[in-house]
Amino acid sequence: MTSTNDIRRSFLDYFGKAGHQIVPSAPLVPQNDPTLMFVNAGMVPFKNVFTGLESRPYSTATSSQKCVRAGGKHNDLDNVGYTARHHTFFEMLGNFSFGDYFKEQAITHAWTLLTKEWGLPADKLTATVYHTDDQAFDLWKKIAGLPEERIIRIPTKDNFWAMGSDGPCGPCSEIFYDHGDHIWGGPPGSPEEDGDRFVEIWNLVFMQFLQEADEIVGDLPRPSIDTGMGLERVAAVLQGVHDNYDTDTFKALIAESGALTSTATTGDTQASHRVIADHLRSAGFLVADGVLPANEGRGYVLRRIMRRAMRHAHLLGAKDPLMHRLVPSLVAEMGGAYPELVRAQPLIEATLLQEETRFRRTLANGLRLLDEATGDMGEGSTLPGETAFKLYDTYGFPYDLTEDALRPQDIAVDRAGFDAAMAEQKAAARAAWKGSGAKASDDVWFDIAEEGATEFTGYSSDIGEGQVIAIVKDGARVDSATAGDTVEVLVNQTPFYAESGGQVGDAGTITGDGVSATVTDTQKHVGKLHGHVATIDSGTLKVGDTVRLAIDRQRRAQIRANHSATHLLHEALRQRLGTHVAQKGSLVSPERLRFDVSHPNSMSPAELSDVETQVNAQVRANTPVTTRLMTPDDAIAMGAMALFGEKYGDEVRVVSMGAEDGGKTYSVELCGGTHVNALGEIGLLKIVGESAVSSGVRRIEALTGEAARGYLQSRDDKLKEAAAALKASPDEVPARVATLVEEKRRLERELAEAKKALALGGGGKAEAAGPETINGVAFVGQVLDGFEAKGLRGAVDDAKTRIGSGVAALVAVNDGRATVAVGVTDDLKDRLNAVDLVKAAVAAVGGQGGGGRPDMAQGGGPDGASAAAALDAVRATLET
Ligand code: ALA
Repeated sequence: MTSTNDIRRSFLDYFGKAGHQIVPSAPLVPQNDPTLMFVNAGMVPFKNVFTGLESRPYSTATSSQKCVRAGGKHNDLDNVGYTARHHTFFEMLGNFSFGDYFKEQAITHAWTLLTKEWGLPADKLTATVYHTDDQAFDLWKKIAGLPEERIIRIPTKDNFWAMGSDGPCGPCSEIFYDHGDHIWGGPPGSPEEDGDRFVEIWNLVFMQFLQEADEIVGDLPRPSIDTGMGLERVAAVLQGVHDNYDTDTFKALIAESGALTSTATTGDTQASHRVIADHLRSAGFLVADGVLPANEGRGYVLRRIMRRAMRHAHLLGAKDPLMHRLVPSLVAEMGGAYPELVRAQPLIEATLLQEETRFRRTLANGLRLLDEATGDMGEGSTLPGETAFKLYDTYGFPYDLTEDALRPQDIAVDRAGFDAAMAEQKAAARAAWKGSGAKASDDVWFDIAEEGATEFTGYSSDIGEGQVIAIVKDGARVDSATAGDTVEVLVNQTPFYAESGGQVGDAGTITGDGVSATVTDTQKHVGKLHGHVATIDSGTLKVGDTVRLAIDRQRRAQIRANHSATHLLHEALRQRLGTHVAQKGSLVSPERLRFDVSHPNSMSPAELSDVETQVNAQVRANTPVTTRLMTPDDAIAMGAMALFGEKYGDEVRVVSMGAEDGGKTYSVELCGGTHVNALGEIGLLKIVGESAVSSGVRRIEALTGEAARGYLQSRDDKLKEAAAALKASPDEVPARVATLVEEKRRLERELAEAKKALALGGGGKAEAAGPETINGVAFVGQVLDGFEAKGLRGAVDDAKTRIGSGVAALVAVNDGRATVAVGVTDDLKDRLNAVDLVKAAVAAVGGQGGGGRPDMAQGGGPDGASAAAALDAVRATLET
């Protein structure tokens, strides 16, 4: 038997040998088409090559492209499990010619591969052509030798293939395989065509036209070829089975599902195993391509797929979460062809386990409610929409899960009623929001939000395409904006991060057909819209336009580094200072990071240095940063740091970084921000500031990467400047500065001494004024102009020592003010009080009071000119 993996390989090899470039599958999230939810055909990644917008170094290519058809226009979700050929995930094998070969070569290749390489009997094959395509008809006759009755002209859209309402298109020719008359059905175009006997295995599209809004608007630059062969279908043919689910890959996955649940894989439980196997593939590949379960957009489609499978696991009686245990089988089957599956295996397992654990908490109750609600409902009846909504809202049952659950009983669901209940809830939420004091100007955002949320694609990409869903100018919606206007632009999906969680919004550019705009900031509205604050540089931007969004990469790289560094800093602070350290505020900008934490004291240089050393050790270890989606409770249980009092949604992103130590990752935080892939991208962390914000809250400011290096460089330059001024080497600067400071202190001391001596008598103690005798007491009295007041007491003490016994009164005059100090030697303390004497002197210079001890008192007054009178007042007091 030829395995599915062999068939894929042999297809690519065949076209590779025929000169085609073998191109790896593009990710499931379209990189170049904002109108598409998932890549749903092999040609999607080449769309712009067909239209001539993009050129590649090859003109023919081949690929095995991952496709998902669930959600959006192509939605096969409801049928999966109940038919032989519906899948949410499948692989499309294709060969492409971009203006190289056309119909003849395409048909030749297809026929050769099918009948020569793979040996399919020619008489089992039938071709269809578009009814007017005589050329293709003749080529089939010529190349394949098919009899005319097996070249069927089809007049319908089935044989005119278009990527979507916009894009390349053309007539096509389909190849059918006849599984044999034991299966009911007829050839295409016949009344029995809906039967399963004739199965389309390959579609050859002769790409020629370009359409817009379903109208052909022109020719492609050159006629081209796009083909698509469902790998699962052709595997069934080559493996001699009729049902895709009986091919090797599916059989392996289904066998594992049967073994893990100890249930039969046929009979009543067959559909459940098929659902599980199919959904395991789509969920696994979507997670590997960066989609995580969410309540909006792509993430919600993934959630629907996952929960549908999980209900079937429950139906099979699985006691524990099942899906994640099937991942090793998926990786074993498909990891060889898709290495991303191997790389993402831990993330896929963790995401499935998390989702299933969470869903199982409400699943049983929801099913009970469903049982009660349908207990007396017969076949053909309809479940009220409100019940479906309650299941959705309270028990996490996506709408299609309820439908799926009721399918075996042939009970429908009232979709209109469900939608009405949903609308009612949204209106209530809006009213509640308004009640919470939101501004009237928020109305415009509510209106837009009701039409959907912005899908943020910027965790994994810097550029992307989006469709303009609204333009807001001066608080009101407008249809267009022209050069010079500053507006907020809303698109359905964007790589621009909107300011939140301390991380500033992205800047960058928006460009479209003849229009270009500069985005200076991105703001979040009503929690789910990313408003690009943009100035139109040229042209006109209109609602409905498809635009290219490119963030300023350099700026975002700096933001990422600063954000991840903030997480490391947080943990380092906790390890160094203690677990009382909690985040009180954070700003992550491209230039710097600012982090406020609860801590009572200022940090010492040693503490700061330790923290910095610890963070930089993590940076150098360069471990990868990982992100998981969890419930807040699970995240906190695993030790994630969360902000107390912060309201988290049902789901949180958990960002882990740094080395593992004893099974614990260095930093685990709940965070919606953008981060580096590996810590080495931070380059370097340098703390540049530590200050108080309020009592008990410290603010750390730091730089990373080039900013940190630049900061250190400028510090180094300054050090060199200082060294040059000192005529020393930078290493000698600290010692030299210490010597200079010491020298300066000594000189100051000496200068003060000299000044004092000068004031006290023009040079030295010997020449100081001699005492006079009043009332038998020796008295020294002197006015000292410009003498520093704070040296006065010392001078009085000196005078007292000099005279041995007596009274000394000194008046310093500075800036017109007089300061008086009077000293009485100890032997005279019983008779004379320095306080009385100083009071008399102070009064003479217009002051009041004066005080001290009996042996030394001091005071002052504003009238420096009366300094001599002050001394006379002391004399007079002594005389009495
Ligand atoms: N693009 C074509 C299809 O999807 C081949 O059928």
